[in-house]
Amino acid sequence: MELVAGTPRQISLTINGQKYSGRAEPRTLLTYFLRDELGLTGTHIGCIVGKCGACSIILDGKLVKSCLIFAQQVDGAEILTVEGLAEGSKLHNPRPSEKEIREGISGNLCMCTGYVNIVKSVKAAAERMAPAKSNARPSGLRPLKLSRRSSQVSQLRERR
Ligand code: FES
Repeated sequence: MELVAGTPRQISLTINGQKYSGRAEPRTLLTYFLRDELGLTGTHIGCIVGKCGACSIILDGKLVKSCLIFAQQVDGAEILTVEGLAEGSKLHNPRPSEKEIREGISGNLCMCTGYVNIVKSVKAAAERMAPAKSNARPSGLRPLKLSRRSSQVSQLRERR
């Protein structure tokens, strides 16, 4: 038996205030349509079963998980993706506290690190993207000390 994919259809959407159009088969998930067909890669693929929230978007004013929706279901809709949250290259909160970061990601399920590395990454990104205020290092990040690393390498070699 030969499997035949459904007929692709032209889908038109307003995303982040701009008109987009692309072709999608009936089985194409909105997540893949946004990323692969339209090139909006800010919407991420995580669990692909509606658990993690990595694919979250605002669809006609409601927060939804785009991995649970087929692209053909949203023809003509208005979508806000993470790319639409930025004002140019500025973050809306250039110096978020750890509490604000944790609140901001609370709808996402981290399945590997208990949010530790995600929080560190957000802090590091915010520090790099924030207007220059100081040369302070993002908290929680330490510079790699070559001398320390060298001594660790030496210790490893000695154990062999
Ligand atoms: S990829 Fe959609 S909820 Fe995880």
